[in-house]
Amino acid sequence: MAKGGNSETFLSQKKMSDELKLEIDKEPGKFTMLTGDRPTGRLHLGHYFGTIIERVAIQNKGVNTNIVIADYQVITDRDTTEHISDNAKNMVIDYLACGIDPEKTMIFTHSSVPALNQLMLPFLSLVSQSELLRNPTVKSEQEASGHALTGLLLTYPVHQACDILFCKGNIVPVGKDQLPHIEQTRQIARRFNERYAPVFPEPVGLLTESVEIPGLDGRKMSKSYGNAISLSATEEETAKLIKKSKTDSERNITFDPDNRPGVSALLTTAALTSGRSEVDIAAEIGEAGSGALKAFVTESVNGYLAPIRERRHELERDLSYIEDVLHEGNKLANDVAQTTLNEVREAMGMIY
Ligand code: TRP
Repeated sequence: MAKGGNSETFLSQKKMSDELKLEIDKEPGKFTMLTGDRPTGRLHLGHYFGTIIERVAIQNKGVNTNIVIADYQVITDRDTTEHISDNAKNMVIDYLACGIDPEKTMIFTHSSVPALNQLMLPFLSLVSQSELLRNPTVKSEQEASGHALTGLLLTYPVHQACDILFCKGNIVPVGKDQLPHIEQTRQIARRFNERYAPVFPEPVGLLTESVEIPGLDGRKMSKSYGNAISLSATEEETAKLIKKSKTDSERNITFDPDNRPGVSALLTTAALTSGRSEVDIAAEIGEAGSGALKAFVTESVNGYLAPIRERRHELERDLSYIEDVLHEGNKLANDVAQTTLNEVREAMGMIY
C-alpha cells in the first residue's frame, strides 16, 4: 500500500490525526466529515471493519457527517457503468443496515450535484501536471488497472478535493493509501484561499483506528480477488466461501500470518466477529484442524452479521424509501454545493 508521500509527511499527518481525535470528542459540532465509496459492488467485511464502524461512531458523536457515493469515480479505471444505479441503491441499503442514519448523515451521488463538479475547473488551475503525476496512489491504481492513464484517473484526486471542500469538510476518515489525496486537497484549499479569498478549510485525514481484516486468502479483502465476505451474502453463500478458502496441510491450528496466511486470515475473521483473540481461538481448535476452524468462522461471521442482514432485508423490501433517502440527500447536497459555488464565484469576482 502506498504511504502518504514521504514518511515525514506521513508522521505529521499521523500527529494531526491523533490531535484531532481528542478535539472531536470535545467539540464534535465544529467538525464536518466527508468520506465515500465507489459504487462498484456490495460492501464487505473489509469496508465494515475498515471504515463503516468508524463512520457510524463519528455520526453518533454529533459531527456533521456526509457520505458521497462516488459514481463518477467508477469510470476512473473502468469502461462501463453497468449496474451503477443498482450498486448505488444497494450501497445506501448497506449503509443504513450498518447504522448510518439518513437523518444525521447526508448521503448523495456525485453525478447529481452539478455545482460540486463545477469546482473542478478552478481547482484544476491550482495544481501542476507534475504534482498530479507524482501521486503514488494514482500511479499504483493505473498499474493495477492495466489501462493507459486517463485524464480522469490522473485528476480524480482533484475531484475528490471537490467532494471534500464543497461541504467544507474538515475531517476525512481514510486509510493510509488515501493520504496523498488529502495532502493535495489541503494544497488546493490553501492555494485558493491565498489567491482569492479564504473560503475553504484545510481538511485533515483521520487515520482509521480499525484493524485491517484480511481477505480469506490473507491478501487484502477485495471483491475482485474472490476473498471477500459481503454483508449482503446469504448464510449459505458465506459458508460456501469460507469452506473453499485455502488453508494448508498442517493439522494443528496456530496464528502465524507470515507463514500461514490462509489459516491466520480465518482466525482474524473469527476474532473480529467473536470479540476473542486469534491465539485464544487457535488454542481452542488446535488439533481439530481447518475443518473445525472453518465451521467456527462460519458460525461466528453469520452470527455477527445476522442483525445487519435482517435490517438489510427489511430495507430491500422498501426500495421507494431508499430512493427517497438518495433524493433527499441529493437535494441537500445541491443546496450546499450551490452556496459554496456562489462563494467561490464571488471570491473570484465572477458575479454577473
Ligand atoms: N476514493 C475513495 C475510495 O475509493 C472514495 C471517495 C470518493 C472518497 N471521494 C472521496 C473518500 C472523498 C474520501 C473523500 O474508497
